[in-house]
Amino acid sequence: MSLRILLLHGPNLSQLGARDPAVYGTATLDDVVTVARRAGEPADVEIDAVVSEYEGDLVSRVHAARDDGTDAVVVNAGALTHTSHALADALAILDLPKVEVHLSNVHGRERFRHTSVIAPVVDGTIAGFGVNGYALAVGAVVGLLRARAAAGEGS
Ligand code: DQA
Repeated sequence: MSLRILLLHGPNLSQLGARDPAVYGTATLDDVVTVARRAGEPADVEIDAVVSEYEGDLVSRVHAARDDGTDAVVVNAGALTHTSHALADALAILDLPKVEVHLSNVHGRERFRHTSVIAPVVDGTIAGFGVNGYALAVGAVVGLLRARAAAGEGS
């Protein structure tokens, strides 16, 4: 049975490739989605890729994930990571495996990037591995889904 992962991207990530290559590399958002898809292939993962510059769009998409067949979420909220309690609240409602990913090592950058308001409501965070971080994130949610399935079978 295939697994459906919602891959959410927030503001300015549509500009990858052109945006500050020294920090974010030269891969485009399409390249990022391809890396996630390839990483999911062995586990028969379907990636539903969504990008928006708007906080409310992302909140609504997370709400929809409650009953549209989504199994897990991988999210790079861009700068909303540091500010959006609304997105964090929406993710908190969603009882699915959730992994936060950042291309850059946010902890080695400006102070405002050191805090993620999303981090407390996700299972874990991957930061600083560039595009490969998405392969790690897909692997992480597949592992979380398998652990949940195993726990469910045991009960
Ligand atoms: C980012 C880090 C954020 O601080 C920044 O605002 C982004 C990208 C990353 O992937 O490294 O837009 O989430």
